[in-house]
Amino acid sequence: MGVKREYSDIEDLPRVGPSTATKLRNMGFHTVESVAMATVEELVEAGIPEKTARMIIDEARKVIRVEFLQASELLKLRENIRKLTTGSRALDELVGGGLETSTITELFGEFGTGKSQICHQLCVNVQLSYEEGGLEGGALYIDTENSFRPNRIVDMAKYRGLDPDKVLENILVAPAYNSDHQMLLLEKADEIIKKNNIKLVIIDSVMSHFRSEYLGRELLARRQQKLNKHLHRLERLATVFNAVAVVTNQVMSRPNDFFSMGAYPVGGHIIAHRSHTRIFIRKAHGKPGLRIARLVVSLDRPEGECVFRITNEGVIDEEEV
Ligand code: GTP
Ligand code: MG
Repeated sequence: MGVKREYSDIEDLPRVGPSTATKLRNMGFHTVESVAMATVEELVEAGIPEKTARMIIDEARKVIRVEFLQASELLKLRENIRKLTTGSRALDELVGGGLETSTITELFGEFGTGKSQICHQLCVNVQLSYEEGGLEGGALYIDTENSFRPNRIVDMAKYRGLDPDKVLENILVAPAYNSDHQMLLLEKADEIIKKNNIKLVIIDSVMSHFRSEYLGRELLARRQQKLNKHLHRLERLATVFNAVAVVTNQVMSRPNDFFSMGAYPVGGHIIAHRSHTRIFIRKAHGKPGLRIARLVVSLDRPEGECVFRITNEGVIDEEEV
């Protein structure tokens, strides 16, 4: 291991001249942080000699102070993990104190259950101070279904005592027109995340384009391959920038399935594998505004359920008015 050096741009890395820099950028690596998460194979594929690729990645990793093969270093990385409040204390408790940075959280449920509402609320909450459960950063909202509503942000910001204009300024919304565009947006995101101190990356919803474009069995493998690449990218961004990543997902009705929820998230095992935390949202029948969240998969939390409310003010606890 050499002495740790600071590199601010990819051109500052050793052996990275203008043509290598272009190759890196074309692959979506615009920052030293994201180069640190690249694999040698990826860079070789882009036409960078293997030895050079290895050296570039090693140097970049010194910047984020991580050796990915060492468990002790991984443990150190876990120590940096922070939690973002959802707005509901009950929901926070369900997931161990809030949504954690550096992994992907999946919100899934039927139409109108409040997945996008939670995403809006998180865009506001991420701007709060650490003491208030925020991450003192901005949000990037990749919007595939035209779900983003600035007026909802205004309502939620006012309720939390924040200046709505300032809150809106710190939310970058990127409409995604098809699955390739959606992937491209994420490939270009590293620089935007770094420049704007983004601490929350949302993809709402992650599957809708993939689902409508890749129809039929013969396209399924291709779809899953692309989806895997997309989520892998998101996972890496969340890790290097210590940000919260949230994807929303629809459910297919499937009575008597093994989740016994009468519903099943689309996207198959790829999303299941990439999501560290999966939260199933459903309506509480006969109780307008009330929602039930169920923690389905979490590596370090027991399964469980909680109740919260969606109101004009946003995501709040059941008893809060
Ligand atoms: P899909 O994207 O269609 O799968 O649904 P979703 O899960 O994203 O649902 P969304 O987050 O859009 O939630 C819509 C629901 O939130 C509505 O049915 C309302 O119950 C509630 N909601 C949305 N806006 C408001 C509001 O301004 N006030 C109140 N009280 N509730 C709202
Ligand atoms: Mg939605």
